[in-house]
Amino acid sequence: METQKNLYEDWVVYQIYPKSFCDSNGDGIGDMQGIISKLPYIKELGANAVWICPMYKSPQGDNGYDVADYRDFHPTYGTMRDFEKLVSRAHALGIKVIMDLVANHTSEEHEWFQKARKNRNDRYHGYYVWAKTPPNTWRSVFGGSAWKYNATTKEYYLHSFAECQPDLRWENPKVRKEFCAIVDFWLDKGVDGFRCDVLDFIAKDFKKDKMFGAPALTEYLQELFSREKASAAFTVGEFQTDEKRLKEICGSGALKCTFQMEHIEPKGDKFTSPARTMAEVAEILKKWQGFTQKNGLLCTLLTDNHDYPWLNSRVGNDKNRRYESATALATMVFLLRGIPFIYQGQEIGAANARFDDIAAFDDVETHNYYKKRKDTLKKRELMARINRGSRDNARRPMAWSKEKGFGFTTGTPWLPFSPRSGKINAEKDLQSKKSVLRYYRELFALRKKYAAFRRGEWKDATAGKGYFAYERSYGKERFLIVCNFGKRNGIDLPAQGELVLTNMKNGRGRYATKSVYAPYEVRVYKTEKEKN
Ligand code: GLC
Ligand code: CA
Repeated sequence: METQKNLYEDWVVYQIYPKSFCDSNGDGIGDMQGIISKLPYIKELGANAVWICPMYKSPQGDNGYDVADYRDFHPTYGTMRDFEKLVSRAHALGIKVIMDLVANHTSEEHEWFQKARKNRNDRYHGYYVWAKTPPNTWRSVFGGSAWKYNATTKEYYLHSFAECQPDLRWENPKVRKEFCAIVDFWLDKGVDGFRCDVLDFIAKDFKKDKMFGAPALTEYLQELFSREKASAAFTVGEFQTDEKRLKEICGSGALKCTFQMEHIEPKGDKFTSPARTMAEVAEILKKWQGFTQKNGLLCTLLTDNHDYPWLNSRVGNDKNRRYESATALATMVFLLRGIPFIYQGQEIGAANARFDDIAAFDDVETHNYYKKRKDTLKKRELMARINRGSRDNARRPMAWSKEKGFGFTTGTPWLPFSPRSGKINAEKDLQSKKSVLRYYRELFALRKKYAAFRRGEWKDATAGKGYFAYERSYGKERFLIVCNFGKRNGIDLPAQGELVLTNMKNGRGRYATKSVYAPYEVRVYKTEKEKN
């Protein structure tokens, strides 16, 4: 029998960064009408859900992750009517809608904080985390101390992220109640689920000096999502946790799943640390596939999102073999067991670009990093670091076509286009023999066609170095997926059946019967005959 969990394995989520997706009115900022116009594109890609990053009213200190009103939209994105239209159009196309829920902090401009910071006796004061003097040396994720002085009340408030994002105090039952009501508000608008921002941060343990992931987390999430009204909604948490905790939270249904991002996380400091190799990425993927399968948990599959420079630029070769490595990464990840999340642009092979001036960046984390080092580091070195680590790499406006404004806007974009947009845009990609987008469509059509990719058992089949191979099997269906890394490789795997997908169309004749794989060559074999 199909369970709700099984059904989630049929989902393919397309992540939209609204500011940079599609601008319908020429103000240079993406908007809801722009999203609506691209729903057919998303459907054709093979996605059946969208997760839209925050569009709420916000001073945009952290691009909408600083929410000033959880029940209203930022005017540049559109109105509640536009949103209702978006939901109904999406649903008509069979596309679910997932909202971003920012629960750890509000904007400093949220009414709650405005009142709280003025008066210690205000009813909203207790919504936030205050201290006479900083009780610890916690650092903000975006740099600097996590405590900021508030002169009116002569106290410090906690901000785990930017200064403009004061942390809410989830210990306070009133805060928890507010969020239940916010969740219900959006469920009533017809949304199908929530992507929950930095969710582990809502539970802090001051005694044990833990900024996130304290034991109360399970309880908070149960209170929020296990209520009858909310329990049918899809939920995915942005989360760092150990395996035990994950089992406890997702196993109990308090949350449907969490993002597994270890493989795209840099090894150390994002601005300076060397990139992982594809082999390392594969090892991490194997670990999580094994763990989630063994424990019957839903897994999430992704290579990119709005918080990381493009993975293909980091672990692949975005210069000479951009198509090959982009399609290899996609195959490696999206036929695994779990729910695929595609981030806008990766399906056209978007890549990092170089800028020599900090003015070409907007991100608060990037600017904090720059400010702190601009007097001590040589400009060249500092800009090299910024280009390597900045989140803006993946936040540049989407390039849809070759024309001026790249089909994103008729005006001036809020953030400069990647200088590579002339070469990397959807129109040009589709005209190329090596089209990343066409490959993505093929890949997701395959995932849709065969239940093995959605329901099947996962098994590591790697038997040598320099590549990653795995099997998916379900009933009589059995597939072998082989992903070669950056070098030509003689891969010693037993002869396989029918080749159902490869990123080397031209090489098919040359290589398919041989065991020699070109750099980044991937092959998907169906090893059981359909009629049997
Ligand atoms: C999450 C978001 C990120 C944001 C941060 C603070 O990590 O993905 O974009 O800056 O939370 O809300
Ligand atoms: Ca606009």
